[in-house]
Amino acid sequence: MAPSCANKQPWRFVAVQEPALLDQVRGTLTDGNYWAKKAPLLVAAWTHLDYDARLPEGRDFALFDLGQAVMALQIQAHHEGLVTHPMAGFDPVKAAQLLGLPQGAILAVLISVSFSGPSDHLNDKHKEGEVAPRSRKPLDEVVSFR
Ligand SMILES: Cc1cc2nc3c(=O)[nH]c(=O)nc-3n(C[C@H](O)[C@H](O)[C@H](O)COP(=O)(O)O)c2cc1C
Repeated sequence: MAPSCANKQPWRFVAVQEPALLDQVRGTLTDGNYWAKKAPLLVAAWTHLDYDARLPEGRDFALFDLGQAVMALQIQAHHEGLVTHPMAGFDPVKAAQLLGLPQGAILAVLISVSFSGPSDHLNDKHKEGEVAPRSRKPLDEVVSFR
């Protein structure tokens, strides 16, 4: 139910569960995303610039609206007790090929979807990250009032 420009709904999701394909898609992840290989589900989130409004001054809304839908997916998954993590770190050409995406498709992220569990398989940096407080830029760096 994410909003989108002129209700174009440019988001497309492929939920990869089938074991052989899941293994192949896992194989496209970067080394740094080793931890995501344990997730029982990877969701590929993709779009195409022509699926959404393309307004002057570079205002192509496909990725913007895809991002809104991905955020909605993550909030809903969290609500259902699942853990999600979007990843840009994978080989997009190989993954798009495996998933049979059409010409011009932009495969923005793979989203790992899993249950919360032990963190024994994580390296020290990721173990620390699991419990570290989340950090964001201070509001005055990203918001101004005129
Ligand atoms: C578009 C996008 C791509 C991301 N890619 C990766 C990734 O490949 N690997 C990873 O570990 N985290 C990835 N992340 C997670 C961010 O690194 C993370 O959200 C950020 O560091 C803030 O951490 P937090 O969300 O745990 O507070 C990505 C997040 C987004 C939104």
